[in-house]
Amino acid sequence: MSILAALRSWCWVCLNWLIERLPFLKNAESIPGLSRYIEAQHEGMFAELEESIKPYHQRFPRFKALPDQGLAAPQISAWVREMSSEESRVWEQGFASGSVYHGDREHMALLNEVYALTSQTNPLHSDIWPSINKFEAEIVAMTALMLGADENAPAPVGGTVTSGGSESIMLAMKTYRDYARQKRGIKHPEAIIPLTAHAAFDKACHYFTIKKISVAVGSDYRASVEAVRLALSRNTIVIVGSAPSFPHGVIDPIAELAALAQQRGIGFHTDACLGGFFLPWVPEKYQVPAFDFRVPGVSSISADTHKFGYASKGSSVLLFRDGAMRHFQYFVSTEWPGGLYFSPTFAGSRPGALIAQCWAAMLAMGREGYQSSVAAIMLTADYIKEGIRSIPELEILGEPLWVIAFTSKSRNIYDIMERMSRKGWHLNGLHRPPCVHICLTRLHTKPGVAERFVEDLRAATLEASSRGKKGEGMAPVYGMAAQIPLRGLVAKFLKKYMDKLYEV
Ligand SMILES: Cc1ncc(COP(=O)(O)O)c(C=O)c1O
Repeated sequence: MSILAALRSWCWVCLNWLIERLPFLKNAESIPGLSRYIEAQHEGMFAELEESIKPYHQRFPRFKALPDQGLAAPQISAWVREMSSEESRVWEQGFASGSVYHGDREHMALLNEVYALTSQTNPLHSDIWPSINKFEAEIVAMTALMLGADENAPAPVGGTVTSGGSESIMLAMKTYRDYARQKRGIKHPEAIIPLTAHAAFDKACHYFTIKKISVAVGSDYRASVEAVRLALSRNTIVIVGSAPSFPHGVIDPIAELAALAQQRGIGFHTDACLGGFFLPWVPEKYQVPAFDFRVPGVSSISADTHKFGYASKGSSVLLFRDGAMRHFQYFVSTEWPGGLYFSPTFAGSRPGALIAQCWAAMLAMGREGYQSSVAAIMLTADYIKEGIRSIPELEILGEPLWVIAFTSKSRNIYDIMERMSRKGWHLNGLHRPPCVHICLTRLHTKPGVAERFVEDLRAATLEASSRGKKGEGMAPVYGMAAQIPLRGLVAKFLKKYMDKLYEV
């Protein structure tokens, strides 16, 4: 490290120390000298990230304006093909955490064919494309039964296909808010959300002016039932639990939390975006606790078809135990000069092709397909967990099934991640506490992938700097982001990062 760089990071540590102790520095980012210093820090980090953000800058033409004349189709597809084949190499060989969940060429060919056949469809126009409504209704019905819906219940489960996990979650929160406002007169709604629940709940609270009541998780990284009990108030509209959580892959105590919700007569949402199409098929020996409509008190579930449902990106299912709840989700406009308007989700026009290919994915998999897929992923998970446990410097957080988070007491975990990146791996860096996770998919079950992961991880751990030391590449960026007490600064950095993505 150069003397200048050492001085810079030392200043940074001192600044953080001061900010943490002096409350009047909470708005420190607006002090001119300091804000210039922070800008310089950000620019330094962006310079380091430039190559990974814009890898095609020098290699492909850039379009800031429309070409005067349309370009030839073969040229356009050649560019896309080249980028796509480079990017496919990363995930196809099993180097990515999550991201692509199925990945077999044959399966993708079916989805692509169905997409191509239906690419112009839009369920908003059910008169033109009734096929898409049929597909959507069947996706909802199949998912509901898979998730424990009682076919003979007086109020049948109802749902919708959305564009992804975040939309399912946001729609669920909006629905609980509107229901509570109308039925219970709640004007200042609160949602109880464990710290490890997905950021989409935060987003929902932000969008729909719901007060987010964050509650602690225990040392096993599962939501604390006691903390939830203490957080309940007259304004609580819903309690949330994950099955499993994105960061640590553990399942919250759904039965206990849902029982609390039931006692209070409020909603309970199981976020099974990650596990909805996985947990029902986990072999019995793993003793997965119930998380779906079999649990009394669970009033809604989100389950992503574009993850372990093996559809292409852009679909998820939101279900309500009492299908009538959907009336608080739907939007209708009866006075618009454009006609009588109704729309079940946030989008107006929706890509029917994504619904069609999702339906095709579910039919192509069938119960047996999901079951064998999950069995193979669980075998790989067992191997990888054992491998991580055999590396003395590492430890696994909680008791995960197939989304495995690990940390190190003696090494800089972000430096380990950086070194894994250099070996080709794309893992997820997490914080609070600092750790890294891998979400296993079918691609990790390919011969040799799990063995290579453990081998590379062992080497990366040995190479990595010790805990508290800066580390290389992205490691300091993660380290700093986790440490900065002024979260506004981190937020600013993230917003600038998004701006960068939009730079041509
Ligand atoms: C548990 C959980 N919930 C919600 C989401 C959000 O899903 P999406 O990225 O499809 O919006 C994810 C995504 O990984 C997740 O793991």
